[in-house]
Amino acid sequence: MTKLNSQQYDLATIAVQTGLNSDSNHNSVVAPIYMATNYRFDDMTQPPQYDYSRCANPTRDLLANALAELEGGAGATVTSSGMAAINLVLQLLTPQDTLVAPHDCYGGTHRLFESLAKKGAFKLVWLNFYADDVEQQLLTLKPNLIWLETPSNPLVRIADIKKICKTAKLVNALVAADNTFLSPLGQSPLALGTDIVVHSNTKYLNGHSDVVSGAVVCKSEELQEQIAWWANNTGVTGSPFDSYMILRGIRTLPLRIKQHSANAQAVAELLQAHEFVEKVNYPGLSNHPQHQLANEQHKFHGGMLSFELKGTENNVAAFVNALNLFTLAESLGGTESLVCHPGTMTHAAMPEEAQLEAGITKQLVRFSVGIEDKSDLIADVLQALAVAANLKDGESDGSTNESPSKLDDLVDETENSASCRLSPALAALW
Ligand SMILES: Cc1ncc(COP(=O)(O)O)c(C=O)c1O
Repeated sequence: MTKLNSQQYDLATIAVQTGLNSDSNHNSVVAPIYMATNYRFDDMTQPPQYDYSRCANPTRDLLANALAELEGGAGATVTSSGMAAINLVLQLLTPQDTLVAPHDCYGGTHRLFESLAKKGAFKLVWLNFYADDVEQQLLTLKPNLIWLETPSNPLVRIADIKKICKTAKLVNALVAADNTFLSPLGQSPLALGTDIVVHSNTKYLNGHSDVVSGAVVCKSEELQEQIAWWANNTGVTGSPFDSYMILRGIRTLPLRIKQHSANAQAVAELLQAHEFVEKVNYPGLSNHPQHQLANEQHKFHGGMLSFELKGTENNVAAFVNALNLFTLAESLGGTESLVCHPGTMTHAAMPEEAQLEAGITKQLVRFSVGIEDKSDLIADVLQALAVAANLKDGESDGSTNESPSKLDDLVDETENSASCRLSPALAALW
């Protein structure tokens, strides 16, 4: 498969053109989906290029090729989810190895790292990657793998990829970056020095909230071979249909990321100017602690932001309930705007102490700002802020008549539900 090159073409051109005209059977412009499980051998000594779809599939390979082109990697492996992609990278570690990871990462990543480290799969050290002494700490810890998630979920903090990769070289550590929040159109971690890039394709790459998928992109052929081997070995490879959908989504990613970023900037500025908002986290704001670094590292600041409201959890609930254009749901990166309460939703898997240590408070709200009309989004946020601010002390958000004991029952019933659903604490608020 030939690769489009970012030295020759802009990433927007690659996103639109990648994989087109690759069908030699009927000359279809857009490649067909190969749903087949298996492929015929002409005879026992001549295996076909594709034999079994867990190992390799033509549609999935087109997506992998597209991701390698967009990230500037030697190759990519498409997985069944973002978590499968993260878990795949962990296959490189042995029980003697040390993984250093950000203390404020996505809740699912936090849970996976913690649970595998507890089983002895590797040694784990949580680190504050924004501390002044991060280089010194890495030199002392001598990790085998450094995990970055930048911008981080949900606090949108920015780690200095170049600086960390330079230090990593001194101790022979691999560096992997989760680039889910910005997509390859927003940031190129491999060009800044990482060895691996990980994506939840579920988010901006697919962009339409109708697929769960992930990917690992490697800088070198050697790492790519290892990752692809583990993907086949552990059976985490992605489906052809999902791959087709993501490839389709990628065609409009250049336009979407621009609109997400412009809308998020406007919403962030509005929130920052509002008296009922305590603090706004968005790298495009000049008072973001890593604004300068973000301007150097990002091509776009993306559509993700978080903020703390004043008042109590009742005010947060009133605000979320009052929004009309932001749906209360997990996930991010789709065309539609979403709101979430990280403490009880996306980061519910993170113990409360770890949440507080990371800076995830009960007042924190996260927006995935969509590509709707900017003025409509602003008007919606403004009216919801007015509702939240006008809630009297001690007043509930008014959306439930349940007695406290009934709500306790509700909490018990949902206690064992998957953390990717509305959490017990939030269900109780509703
Ligand atoms: C930054 C980040 N990485 C990885 C994941 C996991 O991706 P998936 O849900 O596709 O498994 C998520 C999910 O929200 C995420 O936000």
